[in-house]
Amino acid sequence: MNMKRIAAEHAVQYIKDGMKVGLGTGSTAYWAIQKLGERVKEGLSIQTVATSKASEKLAIELGIPIIPFTKLDGLDVTIDGADEINTDLHLIKGGGGALLREKIVAYHSARLIIIADESKRVQTLGQFPLPIEVIPFAVDWTLKALEGLGCRAQLRTDDERLFITDNGNYIADCRFGSIALPLELHNKILGIPGIVDNGLFIGQADLAIIGHRDGSVEVLERK
Ligand code: 5RP
Repeated sequence: MNMKRIAAEHAVQYIKDGMKVGLGTGSTAYWAIQKLGERVKEGLSIQTVATSKASEKLAIELGIPIIPFTKLDGLDVTIDGADEINTDLHLIKGGGGALLREKIVAYHSARLIIIADESKRVQTLGQFPLPIEVIPFAVDWTLKALEGLGCRAQLRTDDERLFITDNGNYIADCRFGSIALPLELHNKILGIPGIVDNGLFIGQADLAIIGHRDGSVEVLERK
């Protein structure tokens, strides 16, 4: 059973004709984009903005209309994945390195629908290393400041080279182990110069659609 796929395909049922849609990034969002591509071929009329170059490329290949964000004043809904989802629907995102564009697009969407397999649900955030987008300048100082917040920070690599985001920055993966107060941590991280943004998404998700091993789909709404 492809749990990511069933969650993604369920989420695409929320997309109606005429909507402006944000396209997420990652292996779960991949299935949502595939399904949207099928629906566009069947006549669904939508305008979309992608959260990464990879998702934009996929959408174009599938014939999904990508619109420059400057031509739109906002989005009706974004469908995106997550690395961890807690009971308040606070999230860790950025496993795919696209957290900054994902956060911008989510902020300008009337609704954020998160899609995931059941392994992403947690009681407390922080087992997954928190991705943080950092400016290359003086990055060693920035990492030291991050470690001062109680984590082990490591620059992400890709084939032994430093991973570079779509925005030309680095990603620091920060092992906190357990994040008891996500909003406080989020704000402390943003107080460090050199940090562009971090993968904590607090109070942004409206719905989480979870695919289970037995083929069922669970829909969780933010309280
Ligand atoms: C990319 C993300 C992804 O949504 C997140 O990493 C989940 O990925 P996947 O769907 O492949 O498990 O935040 O920056």
